[in-house]
Amino acid sequence: MRIIFFAGKGGVGKTSVAAATAVRAAESGRRTLVLSLDVAHSLADIFDLDRDLLDRNRGLPFAVHERLWIQELDIQEEIGRNWKDIHDYLSGLLHTAGLDGVLAEELAVFPGMEEISLLLHINQHVRSRRFDALLLDCAPTGESLRFIGLPATLDWYMEKVLRLERNLVRAVRPLARRLYDIPLPDERYFQAVEALCTRLRGVDRLLTDPDLTTVRLVASPEKVVLKETQRAFMYFCLHRMCIDSVVLNRVLPEAANDGYFAAWRREQRGHLEKAEELFRPVPIRTVELFEQEVIGWERLERLADRLYGGEDPLARFTREEPYRWVKRDGLYELRIRLPFAAREAIEVSRVADELLLRIGGYKRCILLPKKVAARAAVKAKMEDADLVLLFGKEDHG
Ligand SMILES: Nc1ncnc2c1ncn2[C@@H]1O[C@H](COP(=O)(O)OP(=O)(O)O)[C@@H](O)[C@H]1O
Ligand SMILES: [Mg+2]
Repeated sequence: MRIIFFAGKGGVGKTSVAAATAVRAAESGRRTLVLSLDVAHSLADIFDLDRDLLDRNRGLPFAVHERLWIQELDIQEEIGRNWKDIHDYLSGLLHTAGLDGVLAEELAVFPGMEEISLLLHINQHVRSRRFDALLLDCAPTGESLRFIGLPATLDWYMEKVLRLERNLVRAVRPLARRLYDIPLPDERYFQAVEALCTRLRGVDRLLTDPDLTTVRLVASPEKVVLKETQRAFMYFCLHRMCIDSVVLNRVLPEAANDGYFAAWRREQRGHLEKAEELFRPVPIRTVELFEQEVIGWERLERLADRLYGGEDPLARFTREEPYRWVKRDGLYELRIRLPFAAREAIEVSRVADELLLRIGGYKRCILLPKKVAARAAVKAKMEDADLVLLFGKEDHG
């Protein structure tokens, strides 16, 4: 099986590239599902389908070809299926806090619900083995990246917070009932959270297994887009996901050398060269701006030709790993590829067996293996694009 994420800034062509990849995969005999998390769903439009048909399908896989399905997640449907008890409690709470019913209902869709839903679907699809390829059409970068850190955060929440909250609620319930009007979560709420966490178990291993899951970043050769793509690149690296290619889409063709687009094309050429520097050693694929929108099966085939030529679209295009543990002279070192992180911007701190990396606004908690956690303080240094964390000799004292 294969899982591929298509991520990048809005409008660069994520959905088109994901759909084209799906077309090629389906044609080569693989049962393929494209799953969309972007609320601005456009899969149906790209495959030129009657949207009504899809809307009636209510967020379930919908066949567009013998071996190709599309699925557009709908958060309201997801709430009904996965979040009912949690959502009921939250909206009850907001209602008590003085919000009117409808607003409380809407606000109780807390950030992360959609991302967790996506992870639930991935886990479920992998277990069901119904598809050979799962292609994920992500929301624009900023939002779509939150899901990566979630499994680790949830485990931590289960381990440290949930049990405590549950006991606390049990203890204070009789008192709280007398003193306040605030509803406390009941046992159903805790059970629901626990059940969700159970269903999510193992998904982080799926995402960080480079033979199974890779990320393809879609961008266009423009300054602002490349900047955002660079950030995404680093973020995926940090979370141990393998980026196996960068697609530079909508490149102006030679025909644009003269006339209105001449300056634009010159600038693009500069950015194309820059991109080579930025993303090396990850392979870059370029696709020119077509003379028409990419809509319908035939144009998607053409896009797939440009993207993959005769190659298998589901192949893993690079074997570079962003995270590596190395043992040298009895010392452990963790090498993390952070190609774009300036040295000053990285902060490393450590509490017991947890290592906290901060890079600008991003945080990442790494749980150290027992063997390493027992060792003395870490030293950090940059070597080329690698952040190298050194763990001292075993502390026998
Ligand atoms: N190489 C291309 N040539 C011409 N039009 C393209 C190309 N790639 C994408 N498009 C068009 O650009 C628009 C945005 O593409 P889309 O895949 O929806 O972007 P995203 O999912 O990143 O927001 C669509 O109308 C699509 O048909
Ligand atoms: Mg899209």
